[in-house]
Amino acid sequence: MVLAVKVPKKEAERAKKELEKKSLLNTEYKVVKRGNFVFFPVKEAIEGYEVVDVDLPPTRRKPRSLEEALKRVLSEEELRSLVKSFDIIGHVAVIEIPEELREKERIIAEAIMKVHPNVRTVAVEEGPTSGPYRVQPVRVIAGEKNLLTLYKEHSVEMWVEVGSVYFSVRHSFERKRIAEQVKPGEVVAALFAGVGPYPLVIAKKQPLVKKIYAVELNPKAYELMVKNVEHNRLERKIIPVWGDVRDVVPRMFSRMADRVIMPLPKSAEDFLDVAMEALKPEGGIIHFYTFGPAEDPYSRAEKKIKEIAGKWGYDVEFLLERKVADYAPRVWKVVIDAKVLPRSRE
Ligand SMILES: C[S@@+](CC[C@H](N)C(=O)[O-])C[C@H]1O[C@@H](n2cnc3c(N)ncnc32)[C@H](O)[C@@H]1O
Repeated sequence: MVLAVKVPKKEAERAKKELEKKSLLNTEYKVVKRGNFVFFPVKEAIEGYEVVDVDLPPTRRKPRSLEEALKRVLSEEELRSLVKSFDIIGHVAVIEIPEELREKERIIAEAIMKVHPNVRTVAVEEGPTSGPYRVQPVRVIAGEKNLLTLYKEHSVEMWVEVGSVYFSVRHSFERKRIAEQVKPGEVVAALFAGVGPYPLVIAKKQPLVKKIYAVELNPKAYELMVKNVEHNRLERKIIPVWGDVRDVVPRMFSRMADRVIMPLPKSAEDFLDVAMEALKPEGGIIHFYTFGPAEDPYSRAEKKIKEIAGKWGYDVEFLLERKVADYAPRVWKVVIDAKVLPRSRE
């Protein structure tokens, strides 16, 4: 039961104004008309009005967080892990729902849409990122069946088709970090370019970059990269190329790059020779992504980079090493920035 003032219909407008002016309305409940009367929920009794105890429906307020929206449905522990396990890419929310919560997936999806009004599609991850295109399968569980979405970051807009191409919002900081290092006049080799997030952010942040060659094998990702380059009017800076870096680099930009980006952690080691071939003879910088055990994430990759660089007559200086994300229990995704220089002759 709620405290309310009971007002004849014809006086309702005047009463509403007065209650609002005095901030006496109780907004947690709805105003209701019954017969010839209107009931206004109020915070306290007011002189000059008939005050009654009535049953009024609560106003539906948008929950502020997923925790709040689901607190009656999931345990605290379930909530904690769920909240960490979803990303929003444009209008699409992608969520990992553990097996034991699958029967509640619909309620979870609806809660996400309530808390995030921009989300119009909720998709659940259906397996790990796999295959040569590094794609993660998803299934739409609520909202529009439309996985093609426009995502924005660092003043760039890009089209992503969730479930058909690789994309991660979690690497936004990395894209900015690398873009901020690029100097005027540089030629950049963006290997494994996907829909183009690295080249797009670089070209936007460093408009004096000379050229960015962006190579991608997945035809769908390549198609979206072309669209994204046009969408951001960066055709004069970014050259999207469809193909395998192993064929494309020798054919199109052998020994031309000041900087090589290698965001293929699963097998970047196998392409270090291609990166060396892309670099100018005077050397340059390689941004190398890999997976490593938490207790010693860098040593193996450092050894491999030194070995391949050595074969090309280069010395290596490691400029920066950092953890990018957790990948699996005790396995990290890391990045190594390596400066590669012609071997000094002492
Ligand atoms: C981990 S994803 C990164 C995509 C993009 N750089 C990003 O951050 O969103 C790696 C990409 O490399 C592409 N790829 C895999 N092997 C390739 C190859 N040999 N040549 C060119 N692209 C390749 C995959 O199709 C995939 O899009």
